[in-house]
Amino acid sequence: MSNLVVLGAQWGDEGKGKIVDLLTDRFDTVVRYQGGANAGHTVVAEGVKYILHQVPSGIINGAGLCVVANGVVVDPTAMVGELLELKQKGIEVDGRFVLSDRAQVVMPYHGELDRLTEMRLGKGSIGTTGKGIGPAYESKISRAGLRVGDLLTNSKLREKVKDLVERANELIVKLYNERPFDVDEVYSPLAAAGEQLAPYITNTADLLHRRIEEGSSIIFEGAQGAMLDIDHGTYPFVTSSNTTVGSVCSGTGVPPKHIHRSLGIAKAYCTRVGKGPFPSEDETEAGEKMREIGGEFGATTGRPRRCGWFDAVSACYAARINGFDAVAITKIDVLDGFSEIQVCIAYELDGKRIEHVPASATEMERCKPIYKSVPGWRDSTSGIDGFDDLPDKAKRYLDYLAGLLGIPVVIISTGPDRRHSAVREDVYRQSLQVIPNH
Ligand code: IMP
Repeated sequence: MSNLVVLGAQWGDEGKGKIVDLLTDRFDTVVRYQGGANAGHTVVAEGVKYILHQVPSGIINGAGLCVVANGVVVDPTAMVGELLELKQKGIEVDGRFVLSDRAQVVMPYHGELDRLTEMRLGKGSIGTTGKGIGPAYESKISRAGLRVGDLLTNSKLREKVKDLVERANELIVKLYNERPFDVDEVYSPLAAAGEQLAPYITNTADLLHRRIEEGSSIIFEGAQGAMLDIDHGTYPFVTSSNTTVGSVCSGTGVPPKHIHRSLGIAKAYCTRVGKGPFPSEDETEAGEKMREIGGEFGATTGRPRRCGWFDAVSACYAARINGFDAVAITKIDVLDGFSEIQVCIAYELDGKRIEHVPASATEMERCKPIYKSVPGWRDSTSGIDGFDDLPDKAKRYLDYLAGLLGIPVVIISTGPDRRHSAVREDVYRQSLQVIPNH
């Protein structure tokens, strides 16, 4: 079996959680490798809704091992709560979940610094999820972070926390003139969470290598989306990690030769939360209709998502930098009621047609969408689980997107539940299932 990366081709919220849940029983290991509790992966299985923030979506379906690898920034208290909630819903966690000793810890002051930085930026704020992700990665890069493995060194933990809290307080008090954090108020819940998480903490890179040697098959579950990548996204309106495929290596310790295929996930239209350029945003009735029908409100923050038409310019860019072998198109049912569908095939920037994503966010803000209009199908696709059963015009729309991206559409999602999915098994085999040469 090949090892597969699944990641978002847009600005996040493409439905990665659902697709990973759907595919997970074809693999025996599921790995999250970047981001943190800013992610909100929604999985609906047999009528039960699960919202996962840090635990891989593969925990719900199948019996595989779920790994939170070193590239993730972990909020330990929230992680304990998430595991407990899963257990209460009858999901087997013990023996199926591990957490990297090298993952970074999101500290309470990271959340506060996130809030204060956004306040300071005022109108120029990013619109973060407020989960402390940016400040946690800042601490990691400036070598002032706490790692999950440190939670296990009980005798040294308080000393480390004291040093880090004092460093953070300098900023909080001197720059922001806010109340400092108390060392023990930070230390005690961390130590308690560390005790609860101890049975799950391990060297996940070693573990993954052992599993690869034993012939294990791995699905790597991305968080956020390609256009939120710190390098390749719409900087500075991005998240603070690499959301693109390269992150799999650095975030897990698994080298490229064991990463065989890459599957992009894109909605049949486009959404974005937070600020930043979004050329195909539709602020008219059409966008409002997508939000309403698609239930486009953030799983982490509840914020209404900005909605618009499929942006083939940024999706092609995402396909290129991630080497997508195929794409899954989600939420096609949301477009059922539209008689005409727009697809953004190029941008107009200062009177000129361009077909690339500009590096500068201010240039991208000035980009106007150039649309190709495609007929809608005006028929229900809701819950359809076979590609051939889709209305002809919906198939034509999917073919059109596949042609623009230069890759096949392998999965079509037609509703929130796992059952509401059409997997094209022949296309899956041809594009994603290779027998790798180790
Ligand atoms: P942060 O990741 O909380 O720092 O937020 C930075 C930007 O990424 C903001 O625009 C957020 O709305 C966006 N973002 C972060 N995580 C997600 C996600 O899981 N889905 C969609 N947008 C996200």
